[in-house]
Amino acid sequence: MDDSEPLQRFLDIVSRSIAEDRLTGLTLSRPIPEPGERPPRLRVRPVALREGLRYQWAMQFERSETHENVDAKQLLTRLREEVGTVYRHAHLRTTDGDCSLRFSRRGKAKLNRSKANRSSTATPHDRDKQYLIPEGRPCPFLHEAGVMTADGAVRAKAAAKFRQINRFLEFVEDVYDQLPTQGPVSVVDFGCGKSYLTFALHHLLTGKHGREVRIVGLDRDRHVIERCSDAALRLGLKGIEFREGDIASHQAEGDVHLAISLHACDTATDDALAKAVDWKSAVILAAPCCQHELAQSLSSDSLALLTRHGILKERLAALATDALRACALEIAGYRTRVVEFIDMEHTPKNVLIRAVRRNRPSGQEHEHRRRFDELKRQLGIDRLHLEEMLDLNGAND
Ligand SMILES: C[S@@+](CC[C@H](N)C(=O)[O-])C[C@H]1O[C@@H](n2cnc3c(N)ncnc32)[C@H](O)[C@@H]1O
Repeated sequence: MDDSEPLQRFLDIVSRSIAEDRLTGLTLSRPIPEPGERPPRLRVRPVALREGLRYQWAMQFERSETHENVDAKQLLTRLREEVGTVYRHAHLRTTDGDCSLRFSRRGKAKLNRSKANRSSTATPHDRDKQYLIPEGRPCPFLHEAGVMTADGAVRAKAAAKFRQINRFLEFVEDVYDQLPTQGPVSVVDFGCGKSYLTFALHHLLTGKHGREVRIVGLDRDRHVIERCSDAALRLGLKGIEFREGDIASHQAEGDVHLAISLHACDTATDDALAKAVDWKSAVILAAPCCQHELAQSLSSDSLALLTRHGILKERLAALATDALRACALEIAGYRTRVVEFIDMEHTPKNVLIRAVRRNRPSGQEHEHRRRFDELKRQLGIDRLHLEEMLDLNGAND
């Protein structure tokens, strides 16, 4: 038998699963070279990157792991070079079934296919997990957003987005009991962008919790506001609207219980925090984005080693800004935690500030204020936009 034929068929199946966006993973195993030259397993999985869908080629050695992102064409070339030559087994997982190619020691190849009996894009870790929006169940707003198919399968290229949405909802679930139990829940999402998370929040509060809601998605980009308004209309959603406007000048109508600001640019996060504090919002969830303000003003001699290199200076500025924001919220009467939003693999902007308004002052406000000023002094910075916006001396009155 010609053993190049099963290999070609396998590569055709991989190629089709890529073209139809069904590939969820691929493993190469049983290396032919001497042990140690190649890891026992090589894993491939789709990753949604800014530049588009790529395939992570991950080699796990005993003490280290290497990751490389390749495009579809490079992936197929590598598979052609490695399967049967470097690795004896190749196992492809797709949304509708698996396919494996095995080479015997004598070089005989055998192709096997099986229908899927599990959900599509789930990693082994995901499969154990009960998501708030489960995979496999149709969800109209995720279908509208292109994350799911009409029958509830998560599209491979949107798997990271799907996990991020669910992760965000877990944070909302954690603070749900801090929101009022009667009447409509009022939410403002500052810098809502394409509003995946705004729609997800609507889905959670109205669907799972059966609540009436008043959700405002705010963004200064007219096009996203038009698109989101159209989508809300098409989906027939009640209690959600999208408004064009700037965060700093937005006026709330009535109480706001939950203020959200996810990846709004630079000091827009501070404007959002200031608004939320001013409204005495019960909960604030903020994932900051780029932080240029502090990077421009860091000037302490004692930090010279940390600020000499651009990338380290950026990171230091981001860390210091978020530490000061979290502290400012404590001064303003919030119990604050800074947690990881999503794992680093998806974005470096993965910090979430979670603040819950205290019923009464903690008694630590002065100490927080002292620490806030001390850190500013150490960093050699004078006054921050955050301070201009937040009245830190009177915010918790
Ligand atoms: C990176 S997107 C994030 C979208 C969404 N929150 C998310 O996490 O998926 C940031 C959005 O914030 C908006 N934005 C930034 N600064 C703003 C401001 N000062 N006022 C209103 N919108 C702002 C931008 O137009 C953009 O749509």
